[in-house]
Amino acid sequence: MKNILVTGGAGFIGSNFVRFVLKNTEYKVTNFDKLTYAGNLENLIEIESNPNYKFVKGDICDSAAVEKTMVQNDIDTIVNFAAESHVDRSILGSKDFIITNVLGTQTLLDVFKKLGGERFLQVSTDEVYGSLPEDMPELKFTEETPVTTNSPYSASKAGADLLCNAYYHTHGLPVLITRCSNNYGPYQFPEKLIPLMIVKAMNDEHLPVYGDGKNIRDWLYVDDHCSAILAVLERGNPGEVYNIGGNNEWFNIDIVKLILEKLGRSQELITYVKDRPGHDRRYAIDSAKITRELGWEPAYRFPEGIEHTIKWYQENEDWWRKVMSGEYEKYYKENYSSKETHH
Ligand SMILES: NC(=O)c1ccc[n+]([C@@H]2O[C@H](COP(=O)([O-])OP(=O)(O)OC[C@H]3O[C@@H](n4cnc5c(N)ncnc54)[C@H](O)[C@@H]3O)[C@@H](O)[C@H]2O)c1
Repeated sequence: MKNILVTGGAGFIGSNFVRFVLKNTEYKVTNFDKLTYAGNLENLIEIESNPNYKFVKGDICDSAAVEKTMVQNDIDTIVNFAAESHVDRSILGSKDFIITNVLGTQTLLDVFKKLGGERFLQVSTDEVYGSLPEDMPELKFTEETPVTTNSPYSASKAGADLLCNAYYHTHGLPVLITRCSNNYGPYQFPEKLIPLMIVKAMNDEHLPVYGDGKNIRDWLYVDDHCSAILAVLERGNPGEVYNIGGNNEWFNIDIVKLILEKLGRSQELITYVKDRPGHDRRYAIDSAKITRELGWEPAYRFPEGIEHTIKWYQENEDWWRKVMSGEYEKYYKENYSSKETHH
């Protein structure tokens, strides 16, 4: 493994992964990204002149462009981050999710099958396992938990996972799948819970919390996701799934309260809004397999990770003000303005 094609490397986790790989390994990275609203080359300014890094603008659904990029850069490994990734947007319209997440993955698999290669890693999500009951805290998602999806986003990610599995069994491709819990950290687009709440609080605006705020998510610092992906890439068994999680469950409302407290803002800014339809209640990952088999463990504890993340948003106001203008404003109005609110 020498030359990695990272798709979606201009997004939140992808850009953190590109930086992580260039810092910690000798691999060459080609970042192949369509630059949708979520992709931003400013996320990578500090490494853009690194001789081991190259950017190619392209769509993973465009097989000719994928093939050309793979041949020109002698690619032996694909890590597929490219996706439409926001559940709320998939509720407003799911077509782009099916196109990129399902057809895009199929296109990458077919080009990889044609050209050959050492590893194809599909970056998936714990959301493909559906929702866990709240009253059984000992129950967590394992790699054997059946795939049961409730949102168009998770359905599209599950479709891609099943295709990857099929290409392993049918065509013998060396495909690996990782399923990670919710990530947080620098460069996350402020439509997702943690950065949305940080920037709303910094702007002294209302913080919109869905339903009763009691949905539970298992949070992992983004660098820990990156180190886990690298471990699976280097030492994982093809054809297998690896769960990645932080053993760090929080009610959404408690995360929001913590952010307000850390930023010295009033809890009165919290506004409950009509719940997201099909909103999964609880996600919790059992990541015993990756720890046992590959020796991976998270390096960051939540108090340290959230402190670092809040500080990053405070120090990088230009970054988030820029990405929140334009199309984002339109989306935010469309998603939240029709929902009844109460404090
Ligand atoms: N954010 C999380 O908490 C989380 C957790 C588990 C898994 N994941 C998965 O990790 C991956 C990355 O998530 P993220 O939060 O960084 O997403 P993101 O939305 O921040 O970034 C997605 C990137 O993919 C690019 N992209 C979109 N469509 C493309 C296409 N057709 N061709 C090429 N590039 C395209 C975008 O321009 C963007 O740079 C996704 O596959 C997501 O499902 C995310």
